[in-house]
Amino acid sequence: MRPIIPDYLAEVLEQVEPDASGAPAAYIPELAEADPERLGAAFATVDGRVHGAGDIDVPFTIQSISKPFAYALALADRGFGTVLAKVGVEPSGEAFNEISLESGTGRPLNPMINAGAITVHSLVAEAGSGPAERVRRVLDGLSAFAGRRLETDEKVCASELEHAHRNLAIAHMLRGHDILTEDVRAVVDGYTRQCSVLVTTRDLAVMAATLANRGVNPLSGEQVVPEGVVRQVLSVMFSCGMYDAAGDWATQVGIPAKSGVAGGLIGALPGRIGIATFSPRLDSHGNSVRGVSLFERFSSDMGLHVM
Ligand code: DON
Repeated sequence: MRPIIPDYLAEVLEQVEPDASGAPAAYIPELAEADPERLGAAFATVDGRVHGAGDIDVPFTIQSISKPFAYALALADRGFGTVLAKVGVEPSGEAFNEISLESGTGRPLNPMINAGAITVHSLVAEAGSGPAERVRRVLDGLSAFAGRRLETDEKVCASELEHAHRNLAIAHMLRGHDILTEDVRAVVDGYTRQCSVLVTTRDLAVMAATLANRGVNPLSGEQVVPEGVVRQVLSVMFSCGMYDAAGDWATQVGIPAKSGVAGGLIGALPGRIGIATFSPRLDSHGNSVRGVSLFERFSSDMGLHVM
C-alpha cells in the first residue's frame, strides 16, 4: 500500500499555493532573484522515513536555519559555561538584525538573532581555532546533521558580503564589549559563509529530525551532538527561533522552529518528526509566508502542538 503522507502533503501545498503575499529577501541581491513560486514540504521521522511533496530537491541557502545547528556545535565543542558566558537565552522581541545586546555585559540576548549567531560562529571548533577551521567545522557539522556532504553557494556568499554593513556594525559592537576578541571581518566572513550553505527541503527535514531524535541522525545513525545539547537548542528555538513572531508561533503552531531568509523553515518535534518547508516570499518578520501557513496546517491537522 502506498503511504498516504505524500498525498496529504501535496493537497496542503495546493491549498497554500495561491497565496502570493510577501516578497523574497531583497537585502541580499542574489536572493532577490530567487523563483518566488518554489514550494516544497518534507517530513522526516525519527525512525528514518522521509516523505515530501513539491520542490523538495531544489537547493537554496540555509541562512538563519544554520543558527541552531552552529549553536549545537559550539555547545558541544566549548561546553555550556563558555557559550553562555558570551550569548544569553532570552527572547529579544526584536527583528533578527537588531543589535539586541544585554545592557551592561554586551552579551547578545540569544543565539538565533544575528548578534548571537555571529558570536556563536566565533565559538565553534576548539579554542584557538582560526577562521578556516571554524568554517570547516561548521560545514562538517551541518553535513553530519544532513547525512550528506554539503557545500556553500559562493555567489550568494559574495553578494551578502558586499552588503554586510549591518552585521559588521553589530560585530564591531560585540568587539567593543570584548564578546568578540578578534578581527571582526574574519568572523562576519565565516558567519556569512555559514549562512550560504546549500541545502534542500529534504536535507532540512533530516537535519530537523536529527534534533527531534536527540542528536542522532535517523538515516546515518551518527550521534552528531550530545542529547543535552539538543535540549538546549530546541528550548532556544522554541522561545527565540521566530524572532519577534516567536510568541504568535509558540501559541499557534507550538513546535520548536527556525526560519531563514532564503525561504526555508524547520520544525523539530522531540521524539517524533522533523519538518521542513520552502517558499521564498517572506513576511515582515523575515519568515516564509506560505511556510508559516503550512506549519499552521500541519500543527492543527496532526495535533503537533507540544502543549
Ligand atoms: O545575517 C543575515 O542577514 C543572513 N545571512 C541570515 C538572516 C536570516 O536568515 C534571518 N532569518 N529569517
